[in-house]
Amino acid sequence: MKVLMVCLGNICRSPLAEGILRAKVLKEGLTFHIDSAGTSAFHIGSAPDKRMCATAKSFGVNIDNLKARQFKPSDFEEFDVIYAMDKSNYSTILHLAKSEYDKLKVKLILNELHPNQNLEVPDPYYGGEQGFYEVFNLLNEATDQLIKKHKSNG
Ligand code: 4NP
Repeated sequence: MKVLMVCLGNICRSPLAEGILRAKVLKEGLTFHIDSAGTSAFHIGSAPDKRMCATAKSFGVNIDNLKARQFKPSDFEEFDVIYAMDKSNYSTILHLAKSEYDKLKVKLILNELHPNQNLEVPDPYYGGEQGFYEVFNLLNEATDQLIKKHKSNG
């Protein structure tokens, strides 16, 4: 299973989603290829936001060594599923799709938890500490669901 997590900057939400999922997959003894990317070029090459790293660490997840990159069209070939954190990321990725097959790979991550509700992982960048914990909780639940679904699909 090859999973790409996508947000705007690739320094807050999607690197956290990548780190949490990788930790769970390791614990479960599953083999996933996991990566993350941003729809923007703002933070290419940067480590995740220090506030996100600190929140992750407080739950035992280390994302310090990840490096931001921008989403690229060839990601459609490399990954089985592309999870967008919010509707804006979702729409940007869909516009880069070259086929219906590409488009079918793109999902809002919180639809794994709350099907068809199109809920968003809020961007914590300009807010306070609480926002980073909220992002952690949402992505922790969504990735639990993702693993559960993967295991039940054999
Ligand atoms: P992310 O958060 O998309 O979760 O990585 C953001 C990071 C940076 C910016 C916006 C959102 N920014 O505007 O620089």
